[in-house]
Amino acid sequence: MFLPICAALAALATAAHASLGTSDKSCRLPAPSDVDGSLGFNYTDDCAPSTGTLSSYMIYVDFPDAKANDTTESLYDVFFPDAIDWFETASYGKLQLEVDTALEGGFARMPQAADSYHFQRGMSGWDLVTYVQDAIDAHFDQVGMIPVVDVLYIVATRRATSITYSPSLGYPFTDPSGSLLTNKIAAFGFDSYDYYGSKVLNHETGHALCLPDLYPLAGGETGEYVGTWDMMGTIVGPSPDFFAWSKYRLGWIGEDEVDCVEDYGTTRHELIPVSSDKAGVKAVIIRHSDTKVLVAEARSDTGVDENACRSRVLVYSVDTKVQTGQGGIIVYDGNPKTGSPLCVGQGDVKSDAALSLEDGEQEIYVEDFGVKVKIIESDGPGFQIEVRKGEEAVEEDEDDESAATRLSILFSGSLFR
Ligand SMILES: *[C@@H]1O[C@H](CO)[C@@H](O)[C@H](O)[C@H]1NC(C)=O
Ligand SMILES: *[C@@H]1O[C@H](CO)[C@@H](O)[C@H](O)[C@H]1NC(C)=O
Repeated sequence: MFLPICAALAALATAAHASLGTSDKSCRLPAPSDVDGSLGFNYTDDCAPSTGTLSSYMIYVDFPDAKANDTTESLYDVFFPDAIDWFETASYGKLQLEVDTALEGGFARMPQAADSYHFQRGMSGWDLVTYVQDAIDAHFDQVGMIPVVDVLYIVATRRATSITYSPSLGYPFTDPSGSLLTNKIAAFGFDSYDYYGSKVLNHETGHALCLPDLYPLAGGETGEYVGTWDMMGTIVGPSPDFFAWSKYRLGWIGEDEVDCVEDYGTTRHELIPVSSDKAGVKAVIIRHSDTKVLVAEARSDTGVDENACRSRVLVYSVDTKVQTGQGGIIVYDGNPKTGSPLCVGQGDVKSDAALSLEDGEQEIYVEDFGVKVKIIESDGPGFQIEVRKGEEAVEEDEDDESAATRLSILFSGSLFR
């Protein structure tokens, strides 16, 4: 295996980074400036580059009370090359994660006992800053350099079981002389070896790209908002590909791969799966307001979604005003009655949320948006769908008593402009 070794004394500045999105197309909702982890376009928080090369450096640490008895190679192998391949596939080759490391430098010994870093869920940002700065300083003592990178990875020996989990942080870390090393870090602990494997690095690096958490940060069911349909929600789910909305923001899906529906009425669209590397429409985005859209996309068992059980159509909302970990994306459950996964063993109540022609529901009416999404036909991985927005979404449901009420709610206020 190719193990890149740090060669230069300092990679000079990181490349000038484009912020997320550069046009004002009407479905590209802008990020409000006061929302932490907004899902809008042009969100700025020293985001690492999401196309081209994403540079990283990995350092390994152990502790006076948990001296490593594993090897740096074995820790590197937990993450690579799988995490690199994941980004390569998910981005259709648009993002190359480049990893530099100094395996032969061994473990840098941290100045404090592993227990003393309070390294468990809920730890403060300052405890994490202390940990990372100690790791940087210890690595400098041992190896003498760290290159300037987009994201710095700190990996603890498996023996340090009190480094329980794997958080990330945006913070301007400097070398001992005070010059900037990186704005983004991720620190990997016991859950990487015990449970998540390489994909935890993809999730934490997603944060470096300024993607927010899509699971409830405050606690509760991991799949409450998005089930197992995105790496930023459930790391080891069967369909971990990023939502098309996120790929659109990252620049992995282009303008011609998105249908933007602004007007009321009925439209038809041909969807190819989000994980497909072919050209085609990967998302139908239905604009609702300056801060909300509804999205329909197809998901299949290809690319990084290879463990998904079949091709289906997923419908979800995006709200740019919602902070990270509070439900900025909500998947609508197209099969609420089943309450259990159609795909056996897929483990989350929303795993069966998507629509298909083969079983379950073939259409969904999303009341909050006044939109109906219906599958017309499927050619295997792809779908033709119909989108009804506004009055035409509900007129089909003639026998539905509440339709009239819904309509009056829908068309009151400023919706008709
Ligand atoms: C994003 O930024 C670019 C460049 O400043 C600007 O042209 C564009 O209108 C912005 N888009 C949004 C959605 O704010
Ligand atoms: C490292 O030490 C732990 C006990 O602290 C032990 O369980 C583990 O098997 C050891 N690993 C190796 C590779 O020797």
